[in-house]
Amino acid sequence: MNAEGDQAADRDILPVLQSKEEQRAYYDKIASVYDLLAERSEQPMREKGLKLLDPRPGEQHLEIGFATGHTLVALARAVGPEGRVYGIDISPKMAELARKEITKAEVADRVELTIGDAAQLPYQDAFFDGIFMAFTLELFPTEEIPKVLHECLRVLKPEGRLAVVSLSREGKPGWMVKAFEWTHRHFPNLLDCRPIYVRRALEDAGFQIAEAHLDHMWVPVEIVLGKKPPAASAQRR
Ligand SMILES: C[S@@+](CC[C@H](N)C(=O)[O-])C[C@H]1O[C@@H](n2cnc3c(N)ncnc32)[C@H](O)[C@@H]1O
Repeated sequence: MNAEGDQAADRDILPVLQSKEEQRAYYDKIASVYDLLAERSEQPMREKGLKLLDPRPGEQHLEIGFATGHTLVALARAVGPEGRVYGIDISPKMAELARKEITKAEVADRVELTIGDAAQLPYQDAFFDGIFMAFTLELFPTEEIPKVLHECLRVLKPEGRLAVVSLSREGKPGWMVKAFEWTHRHFPNLLDCRPIYVRRALEDAGFQIAEAHLDHMWVPVEIVLGKKPPAASAQRR
């Protein structure tokens, strides 16, 4: 997309209205009821994203924004005892619940959690085979989304995979999207996320798009699998 197109696309993405500290406090506050609020609608979308990521035995995967830990458990089971799973989330309360979930599932030996801001990933370069991020990329300020995706590129091995599931601004916004955005604008404490352009963001950051689907929850959802280019072409960018 050209620079003018980029700006036009950015213009209809709503700004994030909460600071990181407010977001952390918000997720700490809703952690104990998060599954009750979101699991029914988000779980089927997450499953589709996980299928695209296709984690395999012996691999190393990262989940950004793991919340109560359901996907961490699924990833840990998929990579098996030879693999390893890492998670980063800004909310200590979510991390507490996720730890319980991981222990209950008896996979704690292969999962490592970090509490922190995913805009700066505390992992070395070319470390992961895959990264999973569901309903989290749309929480970052618009100008920070490319930064998060560049961090993902940095920590992925060449040809590593990134699966993103996110509320989408693609297509003509229906009344649900308009109602959603109105609520985000007027009650940011109630609704901190907003639809974004997912596939375009991954392409712009330098990912090769392996698969992209536009699905529907109560608003459109993009489920996208990006691949880090092989080492030689990544260096040419
Ligand atoms: C909407 S929830 C999504 C949860 C989970 N991925 C799912 O699909 O069920 C967003 C999660 O991202 C976390 N989060 C928000 N901002 C973050 C940031 N800057 N860095 C890391 N995690 C963040 C929140 O604490 C929360 O657990």
